Amino acid sequence: MTKTILLLPGDGIGTEICAGLPQLFAILNENFREDFVTQTDLIGGSGYDSYGSPCSDEVLAKAKAADAVLLGCVGGVKWEKLSYEKRPERGLLRLRKELDLFGNLRPAVCFDALAEASSLKRELVAGLDILIVRELTGGVYFGEPRGVFDNPDGSRTGLDTQIYTSDEIVRIARLAFELAKKRKGRVTSCEKSNVMQSGVLWREEVSEMHLREYPEIVLSHMYADNAAMQLVRQPKQFDVILTDNLFGDILSDVAAMLTGSLGMLPSASLGEMNPATGRRFAMYEPVHGSAPDIAGKNYANPSAMFLSAAMMLRYSFDMQEAGQALEDAVKAVIEKGVRTRDIGGEHSTTAMSDAILNEFTGILRKLAKAA
Ligand code: IPM
Ligand code: MG
Repeated sequence: MTKTILLLPGDGIGTEICAGLPQLFAILNENFREDFVTQTDLIGGSGYDSYGSPCSDEVLAKAKAADAVLLGCVGGVKWEKLSYEKRPERGLLRLRKELDLFGNLRPAVCFDALAEASSLKRELVAGLDILIVRELTGGVYFGEPRGVFDNPDGSRTGLDTQIYTSDEIVRIARLAFELAKKRKGRVTSCEKSNVMQSGVLWREEVSEMHLREYPEIVLSHMYADNAAMQLVRQPKQFDVILTDNLFGDILSDVAAMLTGSLGMLPSASLGEMNPATGRRFAMYEPVHGSAPDIAGKNYANPSAMFLSAAMMLRYSFDMQEAGQALEDAVKAVIEKGVRTRDIGGEHSTTAMSDAILNEFTGILRKLAKAA
């Protein structure tokens, strides 16, 4: 059965880190008798340049019809002066919202070989394995009313609305509890219920669901500011962090540095069942941005992109062995010292991508022989 993957490299370093992906699917087709077919299109600033929209209706339709979407990153100085609705980030947010990708999984795993690359002491981060579960389609990112308004006295007001319904909280909490079951069984729910009403509701709903459905999970609550501090103080205390859209954005950037580099963090954004494909709507993307400062220089670390593809294999296609092999390939390449500069090496994006693909092929051959 054909599986259609929509590749959206996006802006900045996006095209560089995505360049190895067609080859990855060729390897998968060869080794797993799969029939992955890729399509490539434009999103973000490059989408705006070609289609006049950071996420055109055609691109959105392709994303809805695809079995999975792999996205690079969006944004850049070139588009910063555009009006709010035309900015590259709106393209990404439109995709997330229209595909209803409410559950964003951001695993922060510190590979042993990279413990030195973190700005924290080795003993704090070695062996780290955290999963941030970020709500992705609600909260202040989408809340209405919003806008910049003129006041009668000539001053202006910028307004955003932080809003969560119990249904939104319940569905993301369920995802976090289910994932915790397969891990160490601990969930830390982060909000600001000391100052925010949406936080009060968040804490109540999460607590009730825990009592009702997941008594075997160890649940704790933490204010999001404290969680940011605890992440750099004693990160290994966490297993699953459950949090809202804005706090999840911030906490996942903090967690990224624990793993050595922002270039290491993958993510999966999952939605409900897609009747067109019989799978969950899903998009996979690195946590890092488009890094305009190094774009076009062939310096960027492709690891987060390949690790996002590994998450795709696991979550969209239940190809656990292939996902594991791809993660192992990234790890092995780093151990061998084939590294981009953000993780202490001198290799180019192309060299590191090629090394990962070679390693992946090698691991698959060994597995095939053993079988
Ligand atoms: C992320 C990014 C996005 C976000 C931006 C690019 C809109 O920072 O995925 O973490 O804020 O969600
Ligand atoms: Mg972010």
